Amino acid sequence: MTQDEMKRDAAWAALEFISKDSIVGVGTGSTVNHFIDALATIKDDIRGAVSSSEQSTAKLKQLGITVFDLNDISELSIYIDGADEINDQKQMIKGGGAALTREKIVAAVAGTFVCIVDSTKQVELLGRFPLPIEVIPMASSYVSRELEKLGAKPVLRQGVITDNGNQIIDAHGLQIIDPLALEQQLNNIVGVVTNGLFARRGADIVLVGSSSGTRVLK
Ligand code: 5RP
Repeated sequence: MTQDEMKRDAAWAALEFISKDSIVGVGTGSTVNHFIDALATIKDDIRGAVSSSEQSTAKLKQLGITVFDLNDISELSIYIDGADEINDQKQMIKGGGAALTREKIVAAVAGTFVCIVDSTKQVELLGRFPLPIEVIPMASSYVSRELEKLGAKPVLRQGVITDNGNQIIDAHGLQIIDPLALEQQLNNIVGVVTNGLFARRGADIVLVGSSSGTRVLK
């Protein structure tokens, strides 16, 4: 089974968690693209979606799914999104697709976060995947110097501007022993908009696609 097939299996398994007449929070990435395809098959049973990126919004609309502005809804029962790495505590690194800020906002509002991954994303220790950090462009050099003080090797992601008009620094070489503390510490660097650690608001349920089927971790 290929990695993409494992992603697709996990994504389709998420349909089980969608309630009738609900608004569904939708993340970003290749795994979520499979989920959007799945969601389109039940589009007449849901009210619509809230999206975490321009990329997902375009795909949702193309498949005839209504996209709501987050500010126009008072509650969101569920959020479905992928991850770049996830540990046993359901804490994640996200932002490989540069959509981390909107993803973190939608995840914060949602009652339940269902993370859909293939089994290659499961790790004991977060940090082998470079940690994405969204920064205000004029602060990118300063933030990079601050990251070096924390032992990271910061690399500005070339040619990428986020949906919010900012830049992404990928912090390489971090061994993330205390994800909660690091998430907070990075947020305190002036110029950082969001970092890709999802520890304070981790996932509630993880669907792990593997060659032996999709496992549900609660
Ligand atoms: C985008 C993300 C994605 O969830 C993450 O990069 C996983 O992507 P994929 O499903 O393509 O492996 O955080 O910002």
